[in-house]
Amino acid sequence: MGFAKPSRWLCLVLVLGSYSCEDAPEPPCRQVELDGGLDVDCSDLGLTEMPVGLDYDQVEVLDVSNNNFVDFPPELQYFTRLEKLTLSGNHLSGAIPSFLSKWDKLHTLNLSDNNYMSWATPLNASLRKLDLSKNKINTIDEAAFSGMSSLHFLDLSENRISNLPAGAFSEASSLDNLVLSRNEFSAVPDISSSSLRSLDLSSCQLLTVSPRAVAGLTALLALDLSMNQLEFLPDHFSSGTLQQLDLSYNAVSDLTDHTFSSLPHLAVLDLRGNDFRDVFPTSVFASNPFLRELRLKGNRWSCDGFNLNLFITYEYLTREPPKVADQRSLVCYSPFNVSQLSWQEAYIQTWHPSEGYDTFSMVALMIGVIIGVVLTSAVCRGLMALNRSEDPPASSNNVAGETRLSERVESVVLRIPLREDLPPTYDEALLMPRLNASFHSLPDFVDEEPLAGRFRRSRSIGDLVEPRPRGGDRRSVRRTVQISIE
Ligand SMILES: *[C@@H]1O[C@H](CO)[C@@H](O)[C@H](O)[C@H]1NC(C)=O
Ligand SMILES: *[C@@H]1O[C@H](CO)[C@@H](O)[C@H](O)[C@H]1NC(C)=O
Ligand SMILES: *[C@@H]1O[C@H](CO)[C@@H](O)[C@H](O)[C@H]1NC(C)=O
Repeated sequence: MGFAKPSRWLCLVLVLGSYSCEDAPEPPCRQVELDGGLDVDCSDLGLTEMPVGLDYDQVEVLDVSNNNFVDFPPELQYFTRLEKLTLSGNHLSGAIPSFLSKWDKLHTLNLSDNNYMSWATPLNASLRKLDLSKNKINTIDEAAFSGMSSLHFLDLSENRISNLPAGAFSEASSLDNLVLSRNEFSAVPDISSSSLRSLDLSSCQLLTVSPRAVAGLTALLALDLSMNQLEFLPDHFSSGTLQQLDLSYNAVSDLTDHTFSSLPHLAVLDLRGNDFRDVFPTSVFASNPFLRELRLKGNRWSCDGFNLNLFITYEYLTREPPKVADQRSLVCYSPFNVSQLSWQEAYIQTWHPSEGYDTFSMVALMIGVIIGVVLTSAVCRGLMALNRSEDPPASSNNVAGETRLSERVESVVLRIPLREDLPPTYDEALLMPRLNASFHSLPDFVDEEPLAGRFRRSRSIGDLVEPRPRGGDRRSVRRTVQISIE
């Protein structure tokens, strides 16, 4: 290139040779100006120390992910305006430096994918999001999150946690979303929180769940227990608030009438990829009036026995609005003579083979209906076309056209027998001409009340009084009526 970068020129001019520009290299980080601050991206640079030349006190967002830091770089203490700091993908393991608690604007700290083995230090109260996923944490101090009253989101997934101290989150009074997936719990940790709404315990090798496992979570809306090794959910598993329960990809084979009976707000239930064979009766959901979505794919339903459950549960799950979106999940897997039939078809074919509810007669009936509709509409169209061809098109703005128009109106009017005592029937109303004009251009059918001067008042328009010349007779009024004929 023939020209140096403009910043080089500026640099040369300003520095006036006191030292060479090569002594102050531009930091290799990408910078974007924010509203009154800077977004600095120093990720993926193999750094072991912070590059020089950054405007520390301007930086609001700093990304130093995927570098080689083994400790918090000491230069970080000068970034006093920091709102979001990403240090994921480094090798941090040491103590959290004390300057972090001086940052009162920091709302997001990402320490994912580092080497932390324990967590003990509560961070500044302004923090809203803390990502500690993909570390090697196995111990969490009882006070680790105390005083973090703004913390909303905490990700502790992919660590080695097998146990959590009971009071760990009781002082994180805004904690809303807690991700504990891919840890080593053998039971649902006994935690209490009155703010937590979403708890993710997927892929934790859970073998059992106790009925009171989430009783201490008094605001819980969504619980993810997917991809564990649960063989059943205990009877009376209870939560007064839970709306969404994910039990997919476990080994559950059976539900009782008490499995969901203590979940009165259950709305979405995921049972995909379990070991269900027997179609459960609808009494399983008798206490779940708000249930609106069930996912059942990936189970090998047995229609053996052909009991009435097949039919009734099928109806319950599929009638409008359907609770099961994917109806392929309601198909028999065994016995072989009904495999690939829906539960409903399997039941009917076994017990009522003569009743015309099978696919063939349904299809025949549908085809019959469609042919009927097509034929009727064709005949109607033909008749209408015939009618139209008899009438030459009315040309507007000429006298002949107008008279023809009035003849048409007369003929329409003739077809409607006048019954003064009754309103027109629906069919009569359909035959009546459609009016295309305002009320004022209609002939006044109601009695006229003599009014002062040249005004008149029409009862049909209520109290609206319109000044209108009275001149001209009825016929001149009638001519302004426009009637659209189709
Ligand atoms: C958070 O930072 C503010 C401002 O520096 C400070 O006053 C407060 O004590 C800190 N809070 C915690 C929990 O360290
Ligand atoms: C933290 O960083 C990792 C890797 O860059 C990313 O996948 C994750 O979404 C980040 N977490 C948050 C809370 O932003
Ligand atoms: C399928 O086989 C079972 C016995 O395994 C039998 O009871 C049932 O009637 C058969 N159903 C149909 C539709 O043939």
